[in-house]
Amino acid sequence: LRTILVGPPGAGKGTQAPRIRDQFCVCHLATGDMLREQVQKKTPLGVEAKKIMDAGGLVSDDIMVGMIKDQLENNKDCKNGFVLDGFPRTVPQAQKLDGMLEARREKLDSVVQLLIDDQLLISRITGRLIHAPSGRTYHREFSPPKKPGLDDVTGEKLIQRSDDNVETLTKRLKSYHSQTGPVVDYYKAKGLWHGIDAAQSPSVVWDSMRSIFVGKK
Ligand code: AP5
Ligand code: ZN
Repeated sequence: LRTILVGPPGAGKGTQAPRIRDQFCVCHLATGDMLREQVQKKTPLGVEAKKIMDAGGLVSDDIMVGMIKDQLENNKDCKNGFVLDGFPRTVPQAQKLDGMLEARREKLDSVVQLLIDDQLLISRITGRLIHAPSGRTYHREFSPPKKPGLDDVTGEKLIQRSDDNVETLTKRLKSYHSQTGPVVDYYKAKGLWHGIDAAQSPSVVWDSMRSIFVGKK
């Protein structure tokens, strides 16, 4: 399976992608998680990226394309396919991805857009907690961990993302609509687009996704 999840901040990309990864034995490439790893390690890229992420902007296309290329070439889990979460976010990124896949003689199966009204995203974003090392995601209200503030698997502390506040969310939504909107049109023109209602519960959203992937390996 080779698929892309597109959706605004808080739509549920990071909640659903691991289900696809586990069901289809593909790699889950989340560019936001990769950037947060760099931020945490305080690499030069991480220091620069943090400023951009906290301002709700987008990191440069060249850097993001380089990260995905490296993963597709070197991550063994991607042999069977992939689910991309947070990439491509601009038309140039989508074009570069096409070039990479062509060179590998691979084709995308589908692009799934998670559709949800902006106003529903505020509570999702402000209540989110993450386990930074794994990217596992919780919500204070909608999907609480078994023990408050602690990861179910490792028992380690959960944190709130520094870009998860209303002010930054507004900016992230702006860049989603202006920069990622055209990416959706790009894939619609290629006949790869599917839209699903992402305002439903996570299990209902998962059922709609699975119906898109029926018959895929
Ligand atoms: P990234 O990490 O990709 O952030 P994002 O796109 O804003 O998306 P989120 O992670 O906020 O949302 P999600 O859809 O994963 O929601 P989740 O499943 O966690 O990127 C961060 C930043 O990095 C960007 O702003 C940019 O600066 C930079 N960046 C990344 N990629 C880039 C690229 N390609 N190019 C340039 N820059 C890039 O769910 C949210 C919450 O809701 C959770 O608490 C969850 O438990 C809950 N929830 C999920 N589903 C449901 C449901 N169905 N019902 C109720 N609650 C739910
Ligand atoms: Zn995410």
